[in-house]
Amino acid sequence: MQQSKIIAPIRRYIEPFQNKASTMLSQRLDQKVTDKGYVPVYATGVVAQDWAQYTDTDHTVWAQLYARQREVLQGRACDEFLQAMAQLEMGPRQIPRFADLDAHLQSATGWRLVAVEGLLPDEVFFGHLAAREFPVTRWIRSPEQLDYLAEPDLFHDLFGHVPLLMNPIFADYMCAYGQGGLKALALGPRALQQLARLYWYTVEFGLINTRAGLRIYGSGILSSAGESRHCLESTAPNRIGFSLERLMRTRYRIDSFQKTYFVTDSFQQLFDATLAEFKPIYARLADQSDLAAGDVRAEDHVLQHGTGEGWATSADT
Ligand code: PHE
Ligand code: CO
Repeated sequence: MQQSKIIAPIRRYIEPFQNKASTMLSQRLDQKVTDKGYVPVYATGVVAQDWAQYTDTDHTVWAQLYARQREVLQGRACDEFLQAMAQLEMGPRQIPRFADLDAHLQSATGWRLVAVEGLLPDEVFFGHLAAREFPVTRWIRSPEQLDYLAEPDLFHDLFGHVPLLMNPIFADYMCAYGQGGLKALALGPRALQQLARLYWYTVEFGLINTRAGLRIYGSGILSSAGESRHCLESTAPNRIGFSLERLMRTRYRIDSFQKTYFVTDSFQQLFDATLAEFKPIYARLADQSDLAAGDVRAEDHVLQHGTGEGWATSADT
């Protein structure tokens, strides 16, 4: 059974695309062999958003997804996200203009958006984050893809990722992540894999503990109606307290809802936990085995031990 799912912009973990829009838009410079086989690499350059080129259908897709998520995210998304949505003046009817959002981002946290055609090579992606530039895919999915898309599009990137860049602590975390990515690249594929898990389980699929209960801050969830409900309300997945090295050992799913969500107490906790130099952490983890996406360990702080109902039995990424 196919479940609604959005993939993070980490090229090396994406299977070859079947998406029509991407095939049309792809101006591949290259294909690269990774441990996942051949993976297309998009043009690395920043492009114009070219707002005038969006069709009525594009704007309608935005409006439909926006309306659905606004409704589902009340009481489910963290307050920081909902407040930032309002501050950014991200409109419900039309695809926003990046330049308008930049004005708010610049004054709040110094970030700006850069339009791209799709997934970027790791070094380009990390370089943008380190420079406080967030790459946003310029095209939006087709009406047939409201629930499922195999790669990030404008809705995921803009609606899911950009609001939290208004939050000073989260904005700094994203920048530090980019700098960490550049360092990990130099250390090799294993370090990169562990760092990518951190992105996956925080930036894409993170939950945060608040006085009012668990809330969503991960973009992969925020842009998916199905997973927004599943991650908080289903008894199937594990919900486990954030623990940096535990998380960096944990494989994940790219083809279904997550088997495990990691819960942070605050963005400050996330930032503080990742402040230290990672080189010794990578060295320590090198000797340790990976954990399956659904594993629960004796030392985990378990908020919910999932029933595992509906879990895929194939190997995790
Ligand atoms: N502190 C990490 C390092 O030295 C960089 C990093 C920061 C990684 C924030 C992730 C998030 O590599
Ligand atoms: Co993403």
